[in-house]
Amino acid sequence: MSKITAAITAIGGYVPETKLTNLDLEKLVDTNDEWITSRTGIKERRILKEPGKATSDMAMEAVNELLRKRGISAEEIDLLIVATVTPDLVFPSCANIVSDKVGAKNAWSFDVAAACSGFLYALEVGSKFIETGKHKKVVVCGFDKMSAIIDYTDRNTCIIFGDGGGAVLLEPNFEGYGIIDSVLKSDGSGREFLHQKAGGSLKPPTHETIDAREHYVYQEGKTVFKFATTNMADVSTQIMERNHLLSDDVTYLLAHQANKRIIDYTAEKMKLPTEKVLMNIERYGNTTSGTIPLLFWDYEKQFKKGDNLVLATFGGGFTWGSMYIKWAYDSQ
Ligand code: COA
Repeated sequence: MSKITAAITAIGGYVPETKLTNLDLEKLVDTNDEWITSRTGIKERRILKEPGKATSDMAMEAVNELLRKRGISAEEIDLLIVATVTPDLVFPSCANIVSDKVGAKNAWSFDVAAACSGFLYALEVGSKFIETGKHKKVVVCGFDKMSAIIDYTDRNTCIIFGDGGGAVLLEPNFEGYGIIDSVLKSDGSGREFLHQKAGGSLKPPTHETIDAREHYVYQEGKTVFKFATTNMADVSTQIMERNHLLSDDVTYLLAHQANKRIIDYTAEKMKLPTEKVLMNIERYGNTTSGTIPLLFWDYEKQFKKGDNLVLATFGGGFTWGSMYIKWAYDSQ
């Protein structure tokens, strides 16, 4: 029997309707549109405003969309994984809740927390259950409601993040299309530069932690920027080399949308022209686990069977990685 690869066969996505523009942020903190646009490439982000709505509600919309597009029922899903750092609750997992909301009664489910690299990690995990022949249909979601953990008085972080994400269906492929290779890395010593100080077992929530605003994202932007540029470029060129891909062979780069300058640096090291570098950072900002599936969702119509896609990411932890996918279908 020929080798099984895990191929993406359907995509769904979701972003909330409410927009938070750079002009809106000018009213909240000491910043301006020109600074944000030139330093990050971001013009606006989406914010999930409705009370009572959480990460699972966005993921549910995306999963329902991909089921509709693929023409299958939720009961056919074997495994559902959600990459997120903003689950609805500490436990049970967001994936458990999404499975319930979409009616995936026969699926087992769990979350993957790897900050901005979460979706890539989850895709890798999900693909293994397809490649071994254990499962036929695995759904991998990447979603975050970053507005739940962002301090809108801190100009270092509030200009960057937004809410949203996407979901993909993985199925077996016997022609060699799908996920071909990956390089995944982590280095927990980087945690001091990007983390949430309180709310976990180290510092459970107290009045003091709330008053000190420790439940929000803390970031030393300059240091994160330095590590992100070097490491994302490093794994992306590594995956090209070991799969004998020249820049002409790469159809598109789908890089984590944290800062346009970080993406440009990676693309330069891969020697890719601008038209091969997919971007939507200007409309959504950094949705953490959501950026790469949102790129899939936005650009699906452009993809042709056999396209060589390189995914690249960097995030809190630190976590980072790259993946090579041979696209499996012509989108209509
Ligand atoms: N508006 C206006 N000015 C701002 C500002 C804002 N929102 N944020 C910072 N500044 C100021 C700083 O105070 C500093 O002023 P100074 O020179 O008078 O001290 C100046 O702009 C430069 O600040 P710096 O922090 O060096 O900016 P930067 O070019 O590094 O950009 C980030 C800041 C956060 C956009 C950038 O560091 C970044 O993108 N980091 C990585 C983010 C990332 O990838 N995070 C997620 C990983 S998943």
